[in-house]
Amino acid sequence: MIKTVSKIKNLKGEITIPADKSVSHRAVMLASIAGGCSRITNFSDGADCHSTVKVFKQLGAEISFVDNKTLLIKGGQIMKPKEPLDAGNSGTTMRLVSGILAGQDFESIIIGDESLSKRPMKRIIEPLKLMGADISSMDGKAPLYIRGCGLHGIEYEAPIASAQVKSCVLLAGLNRSTKGVTHYKEIYPSRNHTELMLEYLGANIKTDGTITIVEPSRLQAKDIDVIGDISSAAFFIVAGLIVEGSDFVIKNVGINPTRTGILDIIKRMNGNIQIINERKVSGEDVADIRVKYSEELKSCEISGADIPRLIDELPIIAVLASRAEGETIVKDAHDLRNKETDRISCLVKELQKIGVDIFEQKDGFVVHGGGAKCKLSGDAELQTYHDHRLAMSFYIAGLICEKEVAINGFEWINISFPNFEQLVESLI
Ligand code: S3P
Repeated sequence: MIKTVSKIKNLKGEITIPADKSVSHRAVMLASIAGGCSRITNFSDGADCHSTVKVFKQLGAEISFVDNKTLLIKGGQIMKPKEPLDAGNSGTTMRLVSGILAGQDFESIIIGDESLSKRPMKRIIEPLKLMGADISSMDGKAPLYIRGCGLHGIEYEAPIASAQVKSCVLLAGLNRSTKGVTHYKEIYPSRNHTELMLEYLGANIKTDGTITIVEPSRLQAKDIDVIGDISSAAFFIVAGLIVEGSDFVIKNVGINPTRTGILDIIKRMNGNIQIINERKVSGEDVADIRVKYSEELKSCEISGADIPRLIDELPIIAVLASRAEGETIVKDAHDLRNKETDRISCLVKELQKIGVDIFEQKDGFVVHGGGAKCKLSGDAELQTYHDHRLAMSFYIAGLICEKEVAINGFEWINISFPNFEQLVESLI
């Protein structure tokens, strides 16, 4: 599907951001293995989280929808699936479910779509094998064949800061048949939604700096209200900062400190955002964010510990950097090449087409921003490479281009944010 976007005047009003994808996945997974019934409210309507629901239905969890955002789950013992489990486009589903399945007493197969079947799975296979798991793959990629067996705890130092790998190992360590304790150490803190939800549901888990320790535990079902997704809010935050005259409020945004790298960067770049009405929802921090057009954005350097705290926001940060005065440098982000597509080369190639002065680096990119007066030409057709975050980043860029931008494959936004365009239009 080709979507055309053109320049708009300003964005005003108030929106509520839809549910966090990471938290929605974990809510279904943990409620399905917890004892008892859970009600999950404000569940994500993105296709990825629905892949997780389908997988757990196949594994025997009783899941029913009260409405499109409310789920009832009766969890407990999961069972051998009759058919391969299809994770669709969702890396989170494939990697976290593998951790749950490795210690079961049955065999299972997990498959994914074309894009997911190209993504690296060695990062989870290696630690799971150290725990005693029996997994085979197609040269480190899906399909994954998991012959569930008894696992044992390990002390693992992860070579990359990945919440998916961390969660996979913690979920394997959590299994009540796993022998001993699992220690997981990461180089920089990655998102900790699994740890917070496990704690909320009564697991024996503790974190000390970059080390998390989990013991085999029984989870007790509890209702979970899913917070709004800061990664989805990021598109709106950037739009507000770069579209002249904008001033609006984004409600219900998760501000877990392991996810707020984008907010810190915006402050460093002199962007005008205000965090209001801070509160806690189901163990997570939430707030509303007021965004105003910011005429004097400055460039900055993004690297090291910043990266896992804003990994999914880097495409939209590139759009923001085009409006900042000076050179924005993103480094230590090599793993961006292993996302839904190679987000470094695809992002750079497509943004160059609309006049962004951006260059590819081995582990990131450099944007030479021209400040608020800089004009982006537009007048090009951009490809999305089956990547929802590229599609939405290009749409926001299109709002400030001189001429129309056509986005080919815009429908990929349905992976995480089906009502994205509707929400943009509500602010125009
Ligand atoms: C996610 C973790 C991140 C992120 C992905 C969701 C999660 O991946 O990019 O969109 O829910 O744990 P990595 O952990 O592989 O960096």
